[in-house]
Amino acid sequence: MQATRVTPNAHLLSQHVANRSLTPMELLRRVRSQGFTPKEFRTICVAALVMLSLIVVSGAAVRLTGSGLGCVDWPNCNDDTFVDVSSKHAAIEQINRVFTFLVAAAVALAAVAAWFRRPRRRDLIVLAVVMLVGVPAQGLVGAVVVWTKLYPATVQLHFVLSMVLVWTAVLLLVRSREPDAANPERLRRPSFFRRRSAVVPRVRGRVRLVATWTALAVVAGTVVTGTGPHAGDAKGDDGKACTVGAARRFFGNECDVNGNALVWVTRVHGVVVWITVLITLSLLWLLRRLRHDREVLAAPITAWIVTALIQGSLGYVQYANGLPVGIVAGHIAGTTALVACTAWMWAVTTKVATPATPTDP
Ligand code: HEM
Repeated sequence: MQATRVTPNAHLLSQHVANRSLTPMELLRRVRSQGFTPKEFRTICVAALVMLSLIVVSGAAVRLTGSGLGCVDWPNCNDDTFVDVSSKHAAIEQINRVFTFLVAAAVALAAVAAWFRRPRRRDLIVLAVVMLVGVPAQGLVGAVVVWTKLYPATVQLHFVLSMVLVWTAVLLLVRSREPDAANPERLRRPSFFRRRSAVVPRVRGRVRLVATWTALAVVAGTVVTGTGPHAGDAKGDDGKACTVGAARRFFGNECDVNGNALVWVTRVHGVVVWITVLITLSLLWLLRRLRHDREVLAAPITAWIVTALIQGSLGYVQYANGLPVGIVAGHIAGTTALVACTAWMWAVTTKVATPATPTDP
């Protein structure tokens, strides 16, 4: 009689303990003894993805406010001081540099969590390490950007590498949602080398084509930026461009935008985007009779199309309105979102090659 009363209460109590949020010390002890659960690891992956996406927009804010040369040196802000907030541009540039440390902390946590995740999976560790190495590498490229006085190819490389990091973070997140392999031996080797297609080869090939052309659209877009008015000219505090420092251009001279070149590179960018959209439509056409593959790709492809529609509209609106900084910033955020959707689409076309059982708590 007594036992029947105590058991449900004990059960409720242990459930209450499990549900209440742990203090940082309790969490640390728990992680040391039992590691991170797959669910906790996923939450950390989401945080890393959000931080890697936010820094793209904060980096863009530096360029769009003309603060790219707010600090003329790296890691010191200038010859005299490490931190200088005497001008608006130096302050903006330095906020972005501080933000880099927060991003580094997020990806470092993701790497630590990948190591302490239970069960440990080598594919997740490899992807987390790519992010961990990528962030300081981006810091170095950022330094080269400053040292070369915003040479456009370096700015372009900086942007493209950010997209690679966002791509990696999405891949890590999607992979972390997959069930762990039933055979623990297999967890020791990176399972992404031994994956099998989750869709028919034609569909997988078409998704790769969409990804390739999306990448080309991004690269073409960075050429437009490196030719146009937002290449990073340092504005004076009176808001006038080129009073402090001028950025080099792909076409045209410093502070002297070559309007004709800008029109042509924008046209090329637009054409590449339209080809990408047509390839995506052809993918939709392919999927019309393939129910299973349509289900696999439904969420990422829908997200891709909605994002591309908004992104394309922003592209035309900003161009027609003389490239106002607010819309250009939106176009950069849209690029980040589209790259994330493309990585998602790519990631779901394969799955682990081993029979799997869910291990989620
Ligand atoms: C949906 C696909 C699109 C993608 C992925 C895309 C991507 C990009 C990227 C990555 C940049 C460079 C951002 C930077 O370096 O900071 C850019 C710039 C630009 N894009 Fe697009 N774009 C798309 C659609 C369009 C369309 C349809 C137009 C219309 C012509 C357009 C016009 C521009 C212009 C004018 C710039 C230069 C903005 C500036 O001064 O910084 N884009 N785009």
